[in-house]
Amino acid sequence: MPQSVPDIRILADAEELSRTAAQEFSRRAAAAARSRGRFVVALSGGTTPRRLYVLLAGDGGPAWRDRIPWKAMHVFWTDERCVSPDSPDSNFRAARELMLSRVPVPSDQIHPIHGEDPDAGRAARRYGRELRSFFSLAPGRRPRFDLVLLGVGQDGHVASIFPGSHATGERRRLVVAVRPRRSAVALPATGRITLTLPVINSAACVLVLVTGPEKAEIARAVLAGRRGDLPARLVSPSRGDLIWMLDREAARLL
Ligand code: 6PG
Repeated sequence: MPQSVPDIRILADAEELSRTAAQEFSRRAAAAARSRGRFVVALSGGTTPRRLYVLLAGDGGPAWRDRIPWKAMHVFWTDERCVSPDSPDSNFRAARELMLSRVPVPSDQIHPIHGEDPDAGRAARRYGRELRSFFSLAPGRRPRFDLVLLGVGQDGHVASIFPGSHATGERRRLVVAVRPRRSAVALPATGRITLTLPVINSAACVLVLVTGPEKAEIARAVLAGRRGDLPARLVSPSRGDLIWMLDREAARLL
């Protein structure tokens, strides 16, 4: 069972969900910058947060854009595909095009995962070192992001932590490489690099965004079911908030 009780918010549709997420994002960004002088976020890939990124960058009016302390923002990613940063599959590219190239975040505060490295294990170790250095972590300690954004796959994966993959059980490392398809485990066709559950669960807030009818079954399995091995069910910040935002279609079976 997840330890954290999720704050479940059901919104009319993907647009209302994106606007509510933008509200939450800007509120947390402003509060973190006010109290600690910086706001550290891990962005997810996938299609679900795309509208959120566009809204944050100012689409449809200055509402959120003007409230976000962009100069105090430090951007990391929850996961990346093993592709070049120019690839249409790159999570970095999506966030850059939709948001980061349109807002004044200092470029040295943007921390992409180097998915283009032909050695994914090396890229994962490099990102782990980057986290340790950025957060000044003593050995054995974990980074505390102000906000981690997640989507959920229809198989229950979050970031690139897929059901049955070794990443699901990782307890020690902060970042791991996930290899393409192997035996019975349906891994993606390209390798991935992902933050691990101990990192996600150390965040001050994890915000999970779920939209569309095709996510209704997995939303029920995670939020109302019994399968404890689903990565999405293992998301449970030990000292933070867990917020699930679903649109009506995704929440249909709850
Ligand atoms: C990625 C992810 C992944 C994603 C889910 C949901 O790189 O694809 O970070 O975990 O969030 O697969 O994807 P959708 O938002 O496209 O449904």
